[in-house]
Amino acid sequence: MDPVLFDAAKVAWKQAYAPYSGFHVGAALRAASGQVFFGANVENASYGLARCAEQSAVQAMVAGGARDFTEIVVYTEASPPASPCGACRQILFEFSPEARVTCVNHLGEQVSGQVKDFLPHGFRLER
Ligand code: THU
Repeated sequence: MDPVLFDAAKVAWKQAYAPYSGFHVGAALRAASGQVFFGANVENASYGLARCAEQSAVQAMVAGGARDFTEIVVYTEASPPASPCGACRQILFEFSPEARVTCVNHLGEQVSGQVKDFLPHGFRLER
C-alpha cells in the first residue's frame, strides 16, 4: 500500500461529514498521472443523499482531469476494515478495473485486491 495514499485517506477520514451515522470513511487514490485525489463521505439530513468517500474521490479525480487510477486506499476505524459498498465498486470499475483497492483501519488491518476482484462481472455498456 502506498503510504502517501494511506496518509491522505486518513486525513480525509477526519474531514468526513457523518453526523447521522457517526461512521467516517476516507478514500485516496493515485491517478495514472501520479496525482493524488481524495474524498470523504458527506451525509445529509435527507439520509438518502449521503455520498460515499470512494465516490467523492472519483469525482475529484474526474474534475481534476484524470480518467484512471492505479490504487485506492479506503480508511475507516472499523474492524475488519470496511469494504467499498456495491455502488462504489461499480463506480471504481467504470474507470479502473485493474486498480488495487486496499481497505485499512486504525489497527493496521488490511484487505486488498483488484477492483475487478471486488466486483466480478461488473457492468460495462457495450453498444
Ligand atoms: N460509506 C462510504 O463512504 N463508503 C462505502 O463504501 C460505504 C458507506 C458511508 C456512507 C455513509 O455516510 C456511512 O458510510 C454509513 O453508511
